[in-house]
Amino acid sequence: MLRPRETNPMSLAFLYRKELELCKVRPDETIVVISNLATPAEYIEAAFAAAAEIGCGIYEMKLNAAFSTTHIGGEHVWHTKGAIEAIEAADMVIAHHITLGTEWMARGRAAGTRFLMILDHPDVLARMQSPPGLKEASTYAREKVAKAKELRVLSRAGTDFRCGLGELRTVTQWGYADEPGHVDQWGVGHVSTWPNIGSAEGTVVLQPGDAWVLPYVRYVEDFVHLDIEKGVIVNVEGKTDAKLIRDFCEAHRKRAEDDNPWHVSHLGWGIHPNAVLDQIAVHGPDISKLVCTGRAWPGSFLFSTGPNAQAGGTNDTAAHIDLPMFGTTVLLDNEVVIEEGRIVDHGMIAEPVYPLNVAS
Ligand SMILES: [Fe+2]
Repeated sequence: MLRPRETNPMSLAFLYRKELELCKVRPDETIVVISNLATPAEYIEAAFAAAAEIGCGIYEMKLNAAFSTTHIGGEHVWHTKGAIEAIEAADMVIAHHITLGTEWMARGRAAGTRFLMILDHPDVLARMQSPPGLKEASTYAREKVAKAKELRVLSRAGTDFRCGLGELRTVTQWGYADEPGHVDQWGVGHVSTWPNIGSAEGTVVLQPGDAWVLPYVRYVEDFVHLDIEKGVIVNVEGKTDAKLIRDFCEAHRKRAEDDNPWHVSHLGWGIHPNAVLDQIAVHGPDISKLVCTGRAWPGSFLFSTGPNAQAGGTNDTAAHIDLPMFGTTVLLDNEVVIEEGRIVDHGMIAEPVYPLNVAS
């Protein structure tokens, strides 16, 4: 721990109570908490205390695994008989690992179970608990992106990127799971979509001060030029960051001709007004302070590489890079929605809850 905890440990139960209320949990419902070997006990205790206050059913399903947030998917649920049936029978799942793209979650969603991932430190959960208006801004963004046919991204650093939209899914998360089958994560606020297969073209230029949040947690230190043709990154130029990208993607090829790690994956932007920009400088590579913040900075454009199976495609590579970029201009069908890093489409703006402390 680089800095001392700021929230009172006992306040976690109150935060959980509020989160379950945001999730519209009713006394007649049942929650399954899917924990793992790395889940701190205080999260379970807080969830149980909050559930007891509401009067709903809750139990813990502890997986024999220790997930990290640098690998997506948690198929371990398949290995335990009865687990999927329990998830289908539940009203809500709280998961302490990344469940995106898993078949068991798809089965749960089809049965109406809603999913809430909790991956962050309690201080972050307190700061980022969904403020009023975030759901409205998020769903507005989702509808707008879902209707668009083209996404274009420009920047002074040289980014000139475009792709077609509409074939794959568009998703949004607003920080709580209040609708049947909805998947969310406590603390986020963003919209994501996936380019039509083979449609991504152009140049993406990362610049110093842009961020990595997956698989590494660091600021981009040098300019990186990514050339993209027919949905695939075909050239990477730069210094340390370029080498890290190349090495990571190359290491995940399953065969010599496997280019799945090099595909453009989800694209989108942060919407959460309480995400503050200095968190990597404050916390360094402590991912527990950055899982949701790193995807939620309002107006940051999140460029990513790797899979699209979650959105209806066939690319299921485990290689996934998330790179929030700052200062870009984003256009949907030639309409500017983000101008040099600032959201200008007012429907996507939610008001922050002050004070917005930086350096904490
Ligand atoms: Fe991602």
